[in-house]
Amino acid sequence: MSIKSLGYMGFSVKDVPAWRSFMTQKLGLMEAAATDEGALFRLDSRAWRIAVQRGETDDLAYTGYEVADAAALAQMAERLRQAGIDVVTGDVELAKRRGVMGLISFADPFGLPLEIYYGASEVFEQPFMPGAAVSGFLTGEQGLGHFVRCVPDSEKALAFYTQVLGFQLSDIIDIKMGPDVTVPAYFLHCNERHHTLAIAAFPLPKRIHHFLVQGLTLDDVGYAYDRLDAADKITSTLGRHTNDHMFSFYAETPSGFEVEFGWGAREVDDRSWVVTRHDRTAMWGHKSLRNKA
Ligand SMILES: [Fe+2]
Repeated sequence: MSIKSLGYMGFSVKDVPAWRSFMTQKLGLMEAAATDEGALFRLDSRAWRIAVQRGETDDLAYTGYEVADAAALAQMAERLRQAGIDVVTGDVELAKRRGVMGLISFADPFGLPLEIYYGASEVFEQPFMPGAAVSGFLTGEQGLGHFVRCVPDSEKALAFYTQVLGFQLSDIIDIKMGPDVTVPAYFLHCNERHHTLAIAAFPLPKRIHHFLVQGLTLDDVGYAYDRLDAADKITSTLGRHTNDHMFSFYAETPSGFEVEFGWGAREVDDRSWVVTRHDRTAMWGHKSLRNKA
């Protein structure tokens, strides 16, 4: 019994209206519910996948990981308790707000609120309609996407996510941050998505560097790239990653951290996958446009 996928994410944001237009008109997500205080967005048949709530941090507020059923949830709670983690169970009000049948909540070693749940709400009766020209998003068994977690001690975070939560290492990229500074980034999977979580000790003020949504076609990436205009900040050019082979670009969200819009990643087959390491993040492209007008 283990985590199946990243099911949902919630962000605390200063500018809800800016997020609403960015998520729908630029990225092509569907708005499921919205007020000036917050909004829910869909990528697929699920009632929601990403939430934004008005707040001061402009950062990731919580993430929800999915397990199969109530028995798997109980097993995860027990595993966490045995590891000495404080776990809150039976929060019926929170489960109702998330639209799930049951959940537990706790925090990772550096204070990111995590939830594990089962029984998400499906709304097949309200077909997914993208907010812009996107043929669809790759979700299903691979979950909503991935994000890169910034922590002060990546070894400590890696131990928690692998040994306690059961993620498996896909590969490592030793990222050169300067002439004498190399930061290892650890890429972890819990299903066929090459990484659902990456961990790195980047010297950044936010809990995450970026999150990813994955289109179904190459053209989905191209159309999204074209929708970003002078008012938007594209932070890296189109490129292809060395490890997951994702064809993608990066842009700044209204909260300052980034979003990756991708397509075409290779997948992990646990029968044949072997852990490798890399010295570069990109085969080609992904040139940084940060600090350029
Ligand atoms: Fe990424």
